[in-house]
Amino acid sequence: MKFTDSPVIELRVRDSLLSIQQDNGSFHVGTSVWPCSLVLVKFAERWVQPDPNTSSDSNPYSRTLDFRGRRAVELGTGCGVAGMGLYLLGLTDVVLTDISPVMPALKHNLKRNKPVLGKTLKHSVLYWNRPEQINALHPPYDVVVATDVVYIEESVGPLISAMETLVADDGVVLLGYQVRSPEAHKLFWEMSESVFEIHKVPHEHLHPEYAFEEADVYVLKKKKKEHNL
Ligand SMILES: C[S@@+](CC[C@H](N)C(=O)[O-])C[C@H]1O[C@@H](n2cnc3c(N)ncnc32)[C@H](O)[C@@H]1O
Repeated sequence: MKFTDSPVIELRVRDSLLSIQQDNGSFHVGTSVWPCSLVLVKFAERWVQPDPNTSSDSNPYSRTLDFRGRRAVELGTGCGVAGMGLYLLGLTDVVLTDISPVMPALKHNLKRNKPVLGKTLKHSVLYWNRPEQINALHPPYDVVVATDVVYIEESVGPLISAMETLVADDGVVLLGYQVRSPEAHKLFWEMSESVFEIHKVPHEHLHPEYAFEEADVYVLKKKKKEHNL
């Protein structure tokens, strides 16, 4: 997979071409496109059924990636690649979120890609440690998307809590993941284990041209609550 620091990143999603302008020199990591976002979109492109009515037993992701009628939210969207890509794959009701300083880059890229997307996707400021912002988005969501968001140890607790609040009991978190900080990595998976069932997508299921050793895709589902009778 080619990952480039050129000012414009292009990603073909089926017949559409997303074009994202990034600013690697900015103070905020969200103004760059991070490779796991591309890995997640191309994984989904590989497995989303073009016609969801023709379900296939040979597709292990036909239910997970059946986006019909699903509500979705993306956390830490940055320039918005993952949300835009999944929108092109059928995730029609999606809201992209990030911190305020990243909003100009997100809005710029949403406008830039409006001809391809056909509209400006919904977007909102959301800090993971702000419950009132989370509640204002009216959870639960069927799909929570997040790519390359685990890199600060202090943010891991709020991130998992935001995911847990936002995702429906029968929903999924689609996570593009790369180890960025050993401490944040350890804490994230320790905490996730108590909240989610964790399914790691085998590397051979990723898109062959958008895969590299360090990048993973995970599907997280809320653990079923045990009720005492
Ligand atoms: C490494 S970037 C990844 C951006 C994008 N998802 C991608 O893959 O290209 C991490 C993103 O998480 C966002 N983020 C970090 N901490 C956050 C927090 N506490 N609340 C909301 N967003 C946060 C950053 O602003 C940034 O956009």
